[in-house]
Amino acid sequence: MAENNEKKPVQIMETVLRDAHQSLIATRMPTEIMLPILDKMDKVGYRAIECWGGATFDASLRFLKEDPWERLRKIRDGLKNTKTQMLFRGQNILGYRPYADDVVYKFVEKSIANGIDVIRIFDCLNDLRNLKAAVDATNKIKKQEGRGESQVALSYTLGDAYTLEYWTKMAKDIEEMGADSICIKDMAGLLVPYKASELIKAMKEVTKLPIELHTHYTSGVASMTYLKAVEAGVDIIDCAISPFALGTSQPATEVMVETFKGTPYDTGMDQNLLAEIADYFTPYRDECLKSGLMSTKVLGVNIKTLLYQVPGGMLSNMVSQLKEQHAEDKYRAVLEEIPRVRKDCGEPPLVTPSSQIVGTQAIMNVLMGERYKVATDQFKDLLRGNYGQTVKPMNQDIINKVIPGEKRSTARSAEATGRTEPELESLEKEMKQYKEQEEDVLSYALFPQVATEFFKYREAQKTGVDAKKNDKENGAYPV
Ligand code: CO
Repeated sequence: MAENNEKKPVQIMETVLRDAHQSLIATRMPTEIMLPILDKMDKVGYRAIECWGGATFDASLRFLKEDPWERLRKIRDGLKNTKTQMLFRGQNILGYRPYADDVVYKFVEKSIANGIDVIRIFDCLNDLRNLKAAVDATNKIKKQEGRGESQVALSYTLGDAYTLEYWTKMAKDIEEMGADSICIKDMAGLLVPYKASELIKAMKEVTKLPIELHTHYTSGVASMTYLKAVEAGVDIIDCAISPFALGTSQPATEVMVETFKGTPYDTGMDQNLLAEIADYFTPYRDECLKSGLMSTKVLGVNIKTLLYQVPGGMLSNMVSQLKEQHAEDKYRAVLEEIPRVRKDCGEPPLVTPSSQIVGTQAIMNVLMGERYKVATDQFKDLLRGNYGQTVKPMNQDIINKVIPGEKRSTARSAEATGRTEPELESLEKEMKQYKEQEEDVLSYALFPQVATEFFKYREAQKTGVDAKKNDKENGAYPV
């Protein structure tokens, strides 16, 4: 507890415009729902509003037929006093493969130029070398423009390697790297209250950087975890306004504000204003429930997450993959295989894309009746070191079986996969005919097919080629 009633207001980062709808309605909230409420949100006094990055970029282009850059500019316009925040997948930017450093730099530059303040950067293996280019880019632009903050997020996970020593060493390394703040990103809701207390205290001892805690309500412990973390000195907690809170999303903003009222951690936020914001989102939530976009399945407590230490999203993926194979009876066998596969490949955190890689390999091992009889390309890449280095060494017997005699890399992901030369120029050449703004090159770099479809759609809209026939759902457009 803070001593002598010394005031130490906890700050709140609001996720409703990014993670909350990514977690509850598959990232489908359109810009037109966001804009009318920005004015009120701007008055709350949030530390920042997360509104971009993660899956929003892909979903905007693919499903909503919106230019994500345009969304960002509109949100920026609506937030005069509040910082905006985005989630960034290290060297993978917002995509699924490592990019050369020039693409990373350009993306950071354009994100800040279009309105982002805080860039939260993570890597699925916690290999800090995969974050460095993005952190350096942010710091450089901050120096030039006076705007932009780099936050490094550690993907939280459990396992032999993940001791307090591990986390504190990472915190020191992040500070040395020149980041402005640290985030503990608990994507699965695995961090339980008393462990959070230990973790935050230990990290606070080794770093002066502000620490932000990000968790999900999936396992039901999240608001208690925040309470203990705040008492232990955490600076910022990530919350979602109540209609888009709980379940697989974050704890509710209003609940955390009320919890700390009158204590040294009092946020000072106005509950009446928060109630107005909640009232605004409630009819939209009802609509999502009615249409089935929001499923009641994601709203409850999934205690299996804690039992098996597997993220909720990974469990539901696994169930549907097994169903497709008519092998639902193998559920338990696969659950038991996941930790073994994870150990074989160096015990990585389970977050996109390592969660899918480990999950799919575990299913194959069980269904084939022999472990590693068949391995996916991604699993092979993980063993080759193409995603970077894991905390623990990988199992040599498995390496010999799956990629016998192959050369393995110990470099960071961009180098391991040969992205050592600038790529922007050649990417631009490929998409030149569609380019209306510099940012389009970046959209194309990340999602070549989806962006091209979008560019054609945009063109068709402008030329008025039978715009009514444009099918927003599957992206078909009249030629
Ligand atoms: Co999250």
